[in-house]
Amino acid sequence: MEIIHTVSDLRLRLSGETRVALVPTMGHLHDGHIDLVRIARPHATCVVTSIFVNPLQFGPQDDFTRYPRTLAQDCARLKEVGCHVVFAPNEHEIYPERQQVTVDPSPLQHELEGAFRPGHFRGVTTVVLKLFNMVQPQVAVFGKKDYQQYLIVQEMIRQLALPITLIPAETTRAPDGLALSSRNSYLSVEERQRAPQLYQALQQLAHLARQGVEPEPDILHQVSLDTTYWQTDYLTVRRAADLGKPQPQDHQLVILGAARLGRTRLIDNIEVTR
Ligand code: PAF
Repeated sequence: MEIIHTVSDLRLRLSGETRVALVPTMGHLHDGHIDLVRIARPHATCVVTSIFVNPLQFGPQDDFTRYPRTLAQDCARLKEVGCHVVFAPNEHEIYPERQQVTVDPSPLQHELEGAFRPGHFRGVTTVVLKLFNMVQPQVAVFGKKDYQQYLIVQEMIRQLALPITLIPAETTRAPDGLALSSRNSYLSVEERQRAPQLYQALQQLAHLARQGVEPEPDILHQVSLDTTYWQTDYLTVRRAADLGKPQPQDHQLVILGAARLGRTRLIDNIEVTR
């Protein structure tokens, strides 16, 4: 496995490759990321994992400076799982000048996560398009833990006619149901014990949705997180295809939630067929 820091070295390394898969990450890798690499492997002769904490997708109140950077540890895990190339650029390599040209995703960018993190998805799509141009993969693997991000990237690929096949990956969970996330490392021992409550709330909503109870307003007021510990940003039922408000004829739904537990913001979702 090679660890590459510059775009010119990356281009040189990938020049003979015929089928490249990209797994974009911000590092501090957990088992969920490792699963993404495992999923990528049979689709390509060369798997590139990028590690870059993208300042453009963090708001002023977000955790950009405290986001954990653990490159040596990450590389050890990637080597073990059979990743071929780690692309770990510094900020200047990705943004040598102020980024004035950006990708403006569809209006979905302003909903759910976007309503609480203005500009977040513009930052995501801009860096993802740059990574696509730098790596020029045939395949990219994205986790559905960030379901809205997955849909927005899928839409960007489709609408900008990018020659890339997007492969979605199921969310990897701890035995108690908590979705794996780099941000779980912020949780205190007590918070970590409470954290699966978000998944449990989503499961309750999923149960009601499967029984055919209409989402609005019947379901949502039946489920809540204890406000002593949690500050809920949203708990909602949407259409899986585009996160629109579900209609009675929609069968594929997704239950999405985001909530703060102390200083840590957690997000999760469950797909439901009814
Ligand atoms: O999901 C993430 O970790 C990031 O949003 C991504 C896709 C690597 C872009 O910075």
